[in-house]
Amino acid sequence: MSPGKMPLVLILGALISSITCESQSIKWDEPHHPWRRTPRSQDVKVDHEVFAQKLVKTLIVENPNENVIFSPMSISTSLAMMSEGTSSWTLVNLLQVLGFHLSEHEARDVHHSFMVFIQRLHQLEREAILRHKDFLFINHHRRIHQKFLEEIWKIYKVEVQMINFRDKETAKKEIDHTVAQKAQDRHCELITMLDPETFLLLVNYISMKGIWQVAFDSRLTHQETFFVNEHQKVQVDMMRKTEQMLYSRWDDLHATVVELTYTEDLAVVLVLPDDGHFHSVLRKMDLRTDRTRYAKDMRMVELILPKFNIFSKIDLKKVLPKLGIRDMVTTEANFSGITEEVFPAIIEAMHQARMEVNEKGMRMATDCAMDMAEDRLLHQSAEPLRLKFNKPFLMFVVDNKTQTELVVARVVNPRAE
Ligand SMILES: *[C@@H]1O[C@H](CO)[C@@H](O)[C@H](O)[C@H]1NC(C)=O
Ligand SMILES: *[C@@H]1O[C@H](CO)[C@@H](O)[C@H](O)[C@H]1NC(C)=O
Repeated sequence: MSPGKMPLVLILGALISSITCESQSIKWDEPHHPWRRTPRSQDVKVDHEVFAQKLVKTLIVENPNENVIFSPMSISTSLAMMSEGTSSWTLVNLLQVLGFHLSEHEARDVHHSFMVFIQRLHQLEREAILRHKDFLFINHHRRIHQKFLEEIWKIYKVEVQMINFRDKETAKKEIDHTVAQKAQDRHCELITMLDPETFLLLVNYISMKGIWQVAFDSRLTHQETFFVNEHQKVQVDMMRKTEQMLYSRWDDLHATVVELTYTEDLAVVLVLPDDGHFHSVLRKMDLRTDRTRYAKDMRMVELILPKFNIFSKIDLKKVLPKLGIRDMVTTEANFSGITEEVFPAIIEAMHQARMEVNEKGMRMATDCAMDMAEDRLLHQSAEPLRLKFNKPFLMFVVDNKTQTELVVARVVNPRAE
C-alpha cells in the first residue's frame, strides 16, 4: 500500500500577474545544461555538512518546550537557489555559510554541487515519499531579469509569481491560496504581516507522511498518557509493534536510540532521552558523530510510539543571521541577479514543514507476522526490549544517499497543533 505519502508544500504568493517561464523542463543530464558548462565545478570544494549541522544545532535548541519540524536538505537547496539572484558581498556571504569558499566571479556554477540534493528531492517526490516546493513571490513594481526566471525554472523548477504587496489584503489572499493549493495543505496559513514594500518572499515547504516500511497494527493502538513535562500530561493514541531494529544505548548522553529502515536509503532514527535529560540531549547530541560513536546492534524491540501530526513555520529571516547569513536579510542586500534597480531590499523567507506519523506503512503489519514468528524462533531467548516514547523525543529521517538529514523533528507534545 502507499505509505501515505504526503504533500509537502511551501508556497506563498499572491499573483497579480504571474510570470511563467516558457522554457520546457530540461532533463538533468542534458549535456548543454547551463550549470554543466563550466568545468570549474569539479574543483569547487564544498562541505554541505557544516551548514546542515549548524542549522540542526541552532533550531533544535530554540524554544525547546515546543514541537518543531524542519528539513535541512530542503532549506539548503532553497538557499542555493537564492544564490542565483544575489551578487557581490551578499552572494559571497551566502556561499561561505553554505560551505563554499569562492569569489563572486567563481560562484556561477554552485548550483551544480546542489544537484545531488535537488535531484534527490525530486526523486523522493516522484516516489511519493514527500512533497516539496519552493515559492518565490516578487514585488510586481520591480523590473526583473528574464534570465533569472529562466534559470531558477530550469534548475530548481520554481516559478516566480509577481505580487502587489501594497495591496495587503489581496496579496495575503493570493499567497495563501497559491501555497495551500500547490502544497495541497489547506492548513498552512502562511502570511501574517507583510511589509507593503517587500521585495521578495521565499517560501520553502516540505511535508512527509508514512515513514514506516512495516505498518503498525492499528488494533494495538490505545490511548495512553504522554508526559509533556513535570506538570503537564496529555492522552495520546499510542501505536505499538514488535520487530527487529537497530538498538543503541547512548550512556553519556542519557538516551536510548532505535533506527528503522524506511526505504533502501532512508532511515528513521528515534531518540528517547532519559527522564530529566531532554534539554541536555538537545544541547549535547550530534547525530552524525553520536551515531558512529556508540555501538548498535539488531534487537527485537517492542516500540511504543504516539501518533502525531506536527507542523512548523520557521522564520528564516530570524534564523539565517544566527547561522552567519547576514547580508541577504538586510536592506543593503545586493539582488542584482534579479533586478538592476537599486532600492532598500526587504525580503522575507519562511520554511514550512509538516510530518504526519501514524500506523500506515509500505507493508501491512499482518504481512510480517510470519517474519516475526521466524524471528522469534531464531531469537527465542530474547524477550523483546520495550521502548516507550511517552515523553518528549527526537525523530530524524536521514538520507543515506546524500548523508543529510531530510527531516528533523522534536516532539514535545504530540497533541499540540
Ligand atoms: C551589486 O553587485 C553588482 C555585481 O558585483 C555590482 O555591479 C553592483 O554595483 C552592486 N549593486 C549595489 C547597489 O551595490
Ligand atoms: C548507506 O550507503 C552506504 C554506501 O552507499 C552503504 O554501504 C550502506 O549499507 C548504506 N546504509 C544503509 C543503512 O542503507
